[in-house]
Amino acid sequence: MATTDKPWAGRFTEATDAFVEAFTASVEFDQALAMHDIDGSIAHATMLAEVGVLTREECTSITEGLAKIRQQIQTNEFEWSVALEDVHMNIENALTLEIGDVGKKLHTGRSRNDQVATDVRLYLRAQIDEIASQQHRLATALLDLAEREAGTIMPGFTHLQVAQPVTFGHHLMAWYAMLERDIERLQDCRKRVNVMPLGAAALAGTSYPIDRARTAALLGFDRVAENSLDAVSDRDFAIEFAATVSLGMMHYSRWSEEMVLWTSAQFGFIELPDRFCTGSSIMPQKKNPDVPELVRGKTGRSFGHLMSLLTLMKGQPLAYNKDNQEDKEPLFDLVRTYHDCTMAFADMVPAIEARSDNMRAAAMSGFSTATDLADYLVRKGMPFRDAHEAVGKVVAEAIAANCDISELPLTKLLSSNLVTDDVYDVLTVEGSVAARSHAGGTAPDTVRAAVSAARARLSP
Ligand code: ARG
Repeated sequence: MATTDKPWAGRFTEATDAFVEAFTASVEFDQALAMHDIDGSIAHATMLAEVGVLTREECTSITEGLAKIRQQIQTNEFEWSVALEDVHMNIENALTLEIGDVGKKLHTGRSRNDQVATDVRLYLRAQIDEIASQQHRLATALLDLAEREAGTIMPGFTHLQVAQPVTFGHHLMAWYAMLERDIERLQDCRKRVNVMPLGAAALAGTSYPIDRARTAALLGFDRVAENSLDAVSDRDFAIEFAATVSLGMMHYSRWSEEMVLWTSAQFGFIELPDRFCTGSSIMPQKKNPDVPELVRGKTGRSFGHLMSLLTLMKGQPLAYNKDNQEDKEPLFDLVRTYHDCTMAFADMVPAIEARSDNMRAAAMSGFSTATDLADYLVRKGMPFRDAHEAVGKVVAEAIAANCDISELPLTKLLSSNLVTDDVYDVLTVEGSVAARSHAGGTAPDTVRAAVSAARARLSP
């Protein structure tokens, strides 16, 4: 080596500027890829031996050396060097120190460009699987809670004004519908993550007789990237992941907002156990819903990362550019954020306690069964628009009398003879929800059926 111990320094006549060295290094954060880098290298060396580019002995010595390095990293004995720039060169350098010159053969037929793209995909695939298992916990918790609360009456809102009675189970199944799409989206994203760039080398492929399908099989990739230029430059999978996470976080943020409202004294719909809340350093009476608030707050950073990644890519010519090193920190933070928020909800949801008396009382306020009265009149032959207007007048009566429409005497409900005693059945909140028993409706039995259908769809 000419002036430094950098593996690429052959043509250089002066050492890297100290600031530039630190500025261009990524090892501080990309060491998170170390285990995947080693897995990739072992598969690459194995394939090289199978096609005769390395001897069996060379391959064995490389894989044994890498196993030792893996252990040093796992036990925190490995010394990372900024001068060696990134995780790839740190490990390769350590390998050569460990096993001698044979270590220098590992990089045959590959480049850091296809290596890093492979490592990031292996990392993301593993993380997606971790997140998926938290999603599964959350899905199960939501279904259990929805089943338990299938018959609990609460107000449904539009414009945050009481609109019509619904069941709490139905509301939770609306959350579930969002989560189910998030689960699907993550699995769909995984398909495009699980594609192997290795073999593209720097950008144009390699002149060695590599067997990419074999390396892909060893690493559990579904297929190999078709085009070498695209393989080293493509970060669509990271952007897709960021978009998937952003949508999922947007959902969590909406749930969080509802939890924050519901735990307030004004709503009093649910109680979160103390272990998910914190107090105030000055107001002794306070119990704050910090976990949902923080989840709502963390949504911002995932949207930011999505924007960063899109912007990172937008001006890049083919093929690899150093810009791509900037993909890692957003990606790592997206993974951690989404994983932890999913886990927080999976832990918290089973512990939600419904304060059903308050929910029911709120559903009774705001004339939430007015539509049911209109529907009743329609069933008795009145055109819907007329019924709408007639019920509007009934609501005005109730406001004047300061009571609910179900508390008005029959004579006040409508002067017409269309209204008989049976009207009170539809004016109760229980009657209102029970009447909505079509698919997708809020009736308790319909919610129970929706829960069991969802359970059947949720793969074990
Ligand atoms: N640390 C780099 C990255 O994260 C690895 C690839 C560098 N390749 C190169 N030719 N400079 O993208």
